[in-house]
Formats: sequence, C-alpha cells, structure tokens
Amino acid sequence: MAAKKKPTPKYTVPGMSTSDGATVATILQARLNALNDLALTLKHVHWNVVGPHFIAVHEMLDPQVEAVRAMVDETAERIATLGSSAVGTPGALVAQRSWDDYSIGRAGAIEHLGALNLVYTGVIEDHRAAIDKTGDPDPVTEDMLIGQSAQLELFQWFVRAHLESSSGELSTSGASTERTATKKAGARARRA
Ligand SMILES: [Fe+2]
Repeated sequence: MAAKKKPTPKYTVPGMSTSDGATVATILQARLNALNDLALTLKHVHWNVVGPHFIAVHEMLDPQVEAVRAMVDETAERIATLGSSAVGTPGALVAQRSWDDYSIGRAGAIEHLGALNLVYTGVIEDHRAAIDKTGDPDPVTEDMLIGQSAQLELFQWFVRAHLESSSGELSTSGASTERTATKKAGARARRA
C-alpha cells in the first residue's frame, strides 16, 4: 500500500471530515492500483495459457476480467465521490505499487493458475487490511470493499479448485514466489 497520501479535499461526503476523506481516498488509491494491475494480469494470463486445459482456463478468466474492471470503476468513482482525484495512469500505478510485474510468460494453464493463486492472495490480503482501516471513518467504503472481496475470494476459489487434491490440499502449498508456485502446480499436474 504505497499510494501517496492525497491532499485534503475541498469537500467530502456529508458527515465525514475532509481529513478522513483524504485518508480513505488514499487507501482506495492503493486498492485501485491493485485492481487495475489484476485486471491487466488476468488478460495477460488469458493470452498466454497453453496446453490441454487451454480453453477452460482461457474462457474462465474473461468474466473475472469484466468483474475486476467493474471494481476498478467503482473504486475510482468512490475516490471522486470522496472529493479526491483518482489516478488511473499506468506510470503512476507502477511508481506507487509495492509488487513486481507478473513474472510468467507463455506457460501451461495449471502452471499459470499456481502463480495466479499467489496474485489473488496478495490482492485479497490487502483488501482485508483496507476493510479494517476504512470501517471506522467510512462504512460505505468498507461495504464496497467487502462486496469486492467476496467476489475476489470466489474467483480465487475457481483458481484453487484446479490446484486442489481430493484430500483438499493445494499443490502449491508453501510456495511464496510465482516461479515456485508454477513449478509445484506443473509437477502435480504431470503426476495426475
Ligand atoms: Fe480474449
């Protein structure tokens, strides 16, 4: 969450101080950056999956892209509603983010899903932290983030179901980098 603190707006929603308006808008800018990044990453995976599970994963991802793009719009418009400016340019996103670009190029569908599971974990953990921080100053923003989190968690389950054994274990368990997750997911898929 490295978004630059927004200046105090001239107005914010009724019942909130402009200082709280700036604080919540700053938290939302970091979520906007994460969601914009996620929407682009999901399309990148959509274009780069190969192998026997190609069509299932290729087609699974487009509805996720659509839903995440809707979250991007909703989040940016909440920032504007709070009286601040939503920054949506790619250079600003890259300058403010605390993570690297998704690192997997053309690869098997299951390998990509191993890495994508980690991407979702990062976004969802930070969304939950933002829910904690916004609940007190602005329950309306908290409610929006809760709704988004429910969808993001569902999408992560769609991803994880491909990595899960019948005993409920994820093939990528213990992996903390996209490369490792990709290797572990691929190894399990080849054994199956
Ligand atoms: Fe497409």
